[in-house]
Order: sequence, then C-alpha cells, then structure tokens
Amino acid sequence: MAMLEISDLVVEWDAHTGERIAVRRAEVVARLRAAGDRRAARMVRRMPVTGEFLEPVAVDRLLVRVHTELQRLNEELHMAQRFAELLVPMLTAVRASGSRLRVVDVGCGLGFMVRNLAASGVLGPDVELVGVDFNRALVAEATRLAEAERLSCTFVCADAFALAEEATVYLSSGVLHHFAADKLPEFFRAQDRAGTLAFIHYDIAATRLAPLGAWLFHRARMREPLGRHDGVVSARRAHGDEVVMSAAAAAAGMNTFLFEPFRHTNPFCAAMRAVVGIRPALIADFRRALGRRARGLVAG
Ligand SMILES: C[S@@+](CC[C@H](N)C(=O)[O-])C[C@H]1O[C@@H](n2cnc3c(N)ncnc32)[C@H](O)[C@@H]1O
Repeated sequence: MAMLEISDLVVEWDAHTGERIAVRRAEVVARLRAAGDRRAARMVRRMPVTGEFLEPVAVDRLLVRVHTELQRLNEELHMAQRFAELLVPMLTAVRASGSRLRVVDVGCGLGFMVRNLAASGVLGPDVELVGVDFNRALVAEATRLAEAERLSCTFVCADAFALAEEATVYLSSGVLHHFAADKLPEFFRAQDRAGTLAFIHYDIAATRLAPLGAWLFHRARMREPLGRHDGVVSARRAHGDEVVMSAAAAAAGMNTFLFEPFRHTNPFCAAMRAVVGIRPALIADFRRALGRRARGLVAG
C-alpha cells in the first residue's frame, strides 16, 4: 500500500520554472483512496475548490498553519542544537581550508533551522545562511518571520533537484522521506558540486517505534488534522539506514557517515538521525573538531 502525505499531493510546482501547477481535487482524492487511505481522502474532499481545482490560497494558509505547528517538533527534538553540534566543527574544518561559508537548508519550510541558527549566532558572523523551498507560500512566511526578528538570513524558492543555490554545506531536516527511494540518489548527486564541501541531512530514523512516537507527539502537540495525518505517515515511510546510505553514495566525491544511528542510542529517544557527507580532505579536521562526539560517526 502506498503511503502518501496529503501535503505532497495538494500543492505542485514546476521544478524548472517554479510556477504553480493547478491541482484537481478529485485526482488527489482518487490517489488517496487507491492507496487505501479513506480518512485522508475525506479530508481532501472537504477542502475548498475553484471549479475543479483546489483553492490555492486556502491550501497555502493550511500548509503555513501545519508548518507553524511542525516547529514544535523541531523545538522538542532540539534540532537546532543537533545541527549546531555537527555544523560548528564542520565549519571549523572548512575555515581551515580557506573556503567561503554558505549554509543552505533544502526544503526549509518556514525556515525554523535557518532562523534559529541566525538568531543564536552560533555559527559565527562570517556564515551566510539561506533557506530554499519550492513552496512559495512557506518561503514568503519564512521571509516575513526573519524580517520581523531582523535576522541575517535569506529565503529563496527552488526545487531540491534543480538547485541554483550554491552551498559550502547543504542541510535538510525532515525532507528525505518526501522523496521516493529511487529519487534519493539524484537528491544527493545534486549536492556534489564544485564548491560544496559537506552536507548534513537529518530525517526520521525508520524504527518500529517511530510511527507510535509520531502518533503520540502529533496528538499531543498538533491540532491540524492534516499535520497529524502526515506526521504519522512520515514515520511509516521513513527510509532505512541502508537505503539512505546507498543513495548518499551518489555524491561520489564525499565520504558519507551516519551520525548516531539508532542502534547506537537509546531507542526511546532517537527519532531523528543524520547522514553526513564530507570531502575526504576535511575528515581529519572535522573529527578533531568534533572531539568525543566523533565516535558517533559510523561509516556506511
Ligand atoms: C516536512 S517539511 C520540513 C520543513 C522544515 N525542514 C522543518 O523541519 O520544519 C518538508 C519540506 O520540504 C519541502 N519540499 C518537498 N519537496 C521539495 C523539493 N523537491 N524541493 C524543495 N523543497 C521541497 C516542502 O515544501 C516542505 O516545506
């Protein structure tokens, strides 16, 4: 049975032009029914339409609300701190190589990570922070929030598979499971570019407990039915370590690791784990800067 997230179906963007593509409500309902998900089909059937197409303004408002709630998950799981504990030593290694410092968060949503890192200043003033997402409504809201807080970061519309944004380090959080396993190598390959020295992609660890944990968290902390639904589906469709690591090998110029994979940590705490890629020339400096935490790096 296909596991579909409603948020992936109700909005569509052209990867190359960035233009929005109108979405027929009946087609989304039919896909969800065919996947055996009647509850999700009912939710979409209640969404407003103009003619036969989902009303874009209503869809945008809904997705902004859901992503606003999703920030609680990032707070709960200390995601900004987790990125910082890898990024700070990684940037120490990169600085030693004399490269410029540009960190790009792919599929940034409302830019929680980028805004948080900008607000704390933990990476240092020489680091440019950029968030990219193909959803214009989320990028507009991320920009509004950053301006309200006078943060030094920017947000850009772009597709993860056609990235115009160059980065020294690419990041993502909660994005890998949105791509089918056979598309994942392309995602990693797109980041193996001349100026890129590393990447850190955190996503849900595919464990037997993950759907239960996601259900509990989303019942407790989220109100939007769409968010609750997609949260549990995310955990059920999360890619296993082997799938992620074999896809990451498509970034052939990087050495890749899992950071603190599930089997190395408390099974009740590890909901997210990172795949880390880094140029071979930087590995020794990165390990040194990581200190004791370097033990959490597990080669694929
Ligand atoms: C579960 S959300 C995570 C958002 C954010 N990283 C966070 O942790 O709050 C997944 C995000 O990936 C974005 N996304 C999905 N496919 C994408 C693609 N092909 N290119 C760019 N962004 C994409 C969605 O628009 C959405 O904002």
